[in-house]
Amino acid sequence: MARKILAAGNWKMNKTASEAASFIKELAESVKGAKNEVLICVPFTNLETAVKLTEGTNISVGAENMDYHDSGAYTGEVSADMLLDLGVKYVVIGHSERREYYNETDKTVNAKVLKAIEKGITPVLCCGESLEQREDNITFEWVRMQIKIALKGLSAEDVKKVVIAYEPIWAIGTGKTATNEQADEVCADIRACLREVYGDDVADNTRILYGGSVNAGNAAELFAMNDIDGGLVGGASLKVADFTTIANA
Ligand code: 13P
Repeated sequence: MARKILAAGNWKMNKTASEAASFIKELAESVKGAKNEVLICVPFTNLETAVKLTEGTNISVGAENMDYHDSGAYTGEVSADMLLDLGVKYVVIGHSERREYYNETDKTVNAKVLKAIEKGITPVLCCGESLEQREDNITFEWVRMQIKIALKGLSAEDVKKVVIAYEPIWAIGTGKTATNEQADEVCADIRACLREVYGDDVADNTRILYGGSVNAGNAAELFAMNDIDGGLVGGASLKVADFTTIANA
């Protein structure tokens, strides 16, 4: 199985376009020849700059969200075609912060995943349990449900194009990383779920990332786990040196 490790940054609501420009120039130099695939998911206002400055580099660019409608009266939203026209290749969908603060539901996540695939943008589909759910021992059921609903309506061939990111909410921005074993066992269960529903080919070829306080010090161990194919990195993706270490982990 050749699932290439993906080091994906999620900048969240950080960096102005001018800050992004100087950061990306430095990053491009620093991750040149990195071992892993490198992706940065940046705010809408930085996309054009990011795409331009990464042309001819090994860095791909993603958005952090998009709408599931094609166009129309949806004030404040951004469509798949708008992203495509800029040259954006990836989009984060269903991040827990969007689910928590902006009423993103499993249903809208599903609609967005379907739209992204239809348009040829790679969705980075986020899932993960809260601390309460972990303590209630419903992590596996919860994450399976999120994944099954999010992928509903996709063919097996299309599921393989999705990047899944397992991000336990209690580990995001808290400095409290899941242990390698905790992270790997949920990623393994997501893969088992894909195997049951879509078969071996999909399970063996779909990339599953871990996210939640990934940093320069823990990335190598996490990425070495059987079922973890890289990371979705928040805070540490905002520092060139740290993200470069992660890109080589
Ligand atoms: P941190 O790496 O800052 O914990 O954020 C993780 C995350 O939410 C990435 O999407």
